Amino acid sequence: MKNIPFPGLLKKLLPLIYVGALALTVLIAYVGYSTSRQAQEIITSQFNQQQLILARKISDHIQNQISHLQKSLLAIRETWQVNKKISGQASAEILWQYQQLLSGDVLSLMVLNGQGQPVWRLQDPSWTPKEIPLPELKALEPFLPTPLSPNRIWIGRTFSLAGKWVLPLMVPLPYPKGHGTGVQGAIVFILDAIQIVKKATFGVVSGSTGYAWVINSQGILFDHFENEFVGRSIFEVRKARNPQLSYKIIDDLTRRELLQKKEGMAQYLSGWHRSKLTKTEKLIAYTPIPFFETPERQGRPQPLPAEEFWSVALVAPIEEVSGLIRSLNIRQFLLIGIFQLLIIFGTGMLVFISSRWSSTLTLEVDRKTEELKKSQEKLIHSERLAAVGSMASHVSHEIKNPLIAIGGLAQQLKRSANLEDREKEKLDLITKEVSRLENMLIEVRDFTRPTTPRKIKGGINPLIQEILALMKPVFTDQQIEIQIDLDPHLPEFEFDPEQLKQVLLNLIKNAAEAMTAGGRLGIKTYPRAAKVFIEISDTGKGISPEHLTNLFRPFFTTKKKGTGLGLAVSYKIIHDHNGDIQVASEVNQGTRMVVQLPLQG
Ligand SMILES: Nc1ncnc2c1ncn2[C@@H]1O[C@H](COP(=O)(O)OP(=O)(O)OP(=O)(O)O)[C@@H](O)[C@H]1O
Ligand SMILES: [Mg+2]
Repeated sequence: MKNIPFPGLLKKLLPLIYVGALALTVLIAYVGYSTSRQAQEIITSQFNQQQLILARKISDHIQNQISHLQKSLLAIRETWQVNKKISGQASAEILWQYQQLLSGDVLSLMVLNGQGQPVWRLQDPSWTPKEIPLPELKALEPFLPTPLSPNRIWIGRTFSLAGKWVLPLMVPLPYPKGHGTGVQGAIVFILDAIQIVKKATFGVVSGSTGYAWVINSQGILFDHFENEFVGRSIFEVRKARNPQLSYKIIDDLTRRELLQKKEGMAQYLSGWHRSKLTKTEKLIAYTPIPFFETPERQGRPQPLPAEEFWSVALVAPIEEVSGLIRSLNIRQFLLIGIFQLLIIFGTGMLVFISSRWSSTLTLEVDRKTEELKKSQEKLIHSERLAAVGSMASHVSHEIKNPLIAIGGLAQQLKRSANLEDREKEKLDLITKEVSRLENMLIEVRDFTRPTTPRKIKGGINPLIQEILALMKPVFTDQQIEIQIDLDPHLPEFEFDPEQLKQVLLNLIKNAAEAMTAGGRLGIKTYPRAAKVFIEISDTGKGISPEHLTNLFRPFFTTKKKGTGLGLAVSYKIIHDHNGDIQVASEVNQGTRMVVQLPLQG
């Protein structure tokens, strides 16, 4: 079997293709990994930037609210000074203004006299502290109106009072012009710090589950997603919620940044997120909420910052951001995997298909070569037959007439008188030999005459039985034992019974002639692969290897009286039926002739 070069080359290239595919995959994976890391960094930082913007918005909102309240305080002072009432009943106007004070942000409005005693007070009825620790009026001295800062408002530190966290605002009440210098009293707002913060953070969500929290300058939470944390120290609630974790990073960050009025972004490990108590990596963006002693107004010089400030932070789990990237990554690696699999599978398939293709091709080439060889042999054989035939017919034509003349003359001579017995014997011999030659000429003529099989449907077995019956006397005479094994289910098919009879007769005759000292003749029929097989075996003298190659040649014979045409004719007939004859023989052991005939001629 010859090898087809193409798949061989492919097989050699295969490791190269795999290494290439692997290198490509590693490259893609590396590029994918670094790109996704970069994307993660960019998206994370973008996300935190957004959180910072949100924190600034909250900070602005709270500052605006305080600024608005500062303006309200100034407006009340104005009204008070116009009415010049420092004691007694509150005017309807002040009451009306108080009603306007932003839906409960102000818990209490007080007017203090020069000694710091409240001389007039309005208060949220639901909030009833025993007493309100008031700031020292001395603190107001630097706030007395100057040309530069006529409206400076003192903002105290937030403190806890009667269940609320309050932020005091105080504006000095100077003597009216011409009535003295210094402070005759003050007007105070006590603000609900938590309420103000909550209004600003209401509905704020960062990402899908992130939230905002606000602390004051002492680290007290004024707002948090967990309501129970509100009003408690941020350092304590963290520990209380999940004591297993160290909060050093976020605690340090809170002290170093948030409680130092700084703005920034960071990452830290939290012990929970919303109701889930698990370690959660979070992103945090924070910004201060500074307060100023004069209300914000355009075109003013930068006001002095107050002592009190708060800080707002936005936090969200990194997972929310990186989760997005991860799903992208997974998709990307899935694609790489599919790509890799495709390459492996594709190359494998290619090799498989091409190797199959190669073996089928090799088989096909072998089959065709064999067919070609056979048809070539057939051609040579038939050409040889044709040549022999034309020569034989020519020779027989030339011989026939003189032979008839010789035979006729010999007969005439025999009939004439006066012949001695010995002479008559000689004439007999001449006639006998002449008739033998004439018979041979008939055989040669039969052989050379081109015939096409006249096929009719029938069974081979009955034909064999017929021949055996015909030959029976020969077998008995030569002490030949017959062994018959004919398949009773042998399918019928189309063949020329006269021609096949001749073939079988030739083969059986040859077998008998090879067993002059007796033996066993075997005849077997069976179907296989859409063919009928006829095996004729003998235990005769066998055929030597050098004779095997010449067996089917016309006139090849090893017998004294043989013409050497039996097998040549048989071969021609079988091949005219699209069949074949195979020989297996061993000297002194016997010979087996196998005839194959296709069921579909
Ligand atoms: N069964 C066999 N056993 C041994 N030799 C055989 C057998 N069949 C054929 N041969 C050999 O093949 C030769 C050719 O056979 P083939 O039948 O063509 O011619 P033949 O038998 O010699 O003469 P013919 O058949 O024309 O009378 C034989 O002479 C014989 O040597
Ligand atoms: Mg013969």
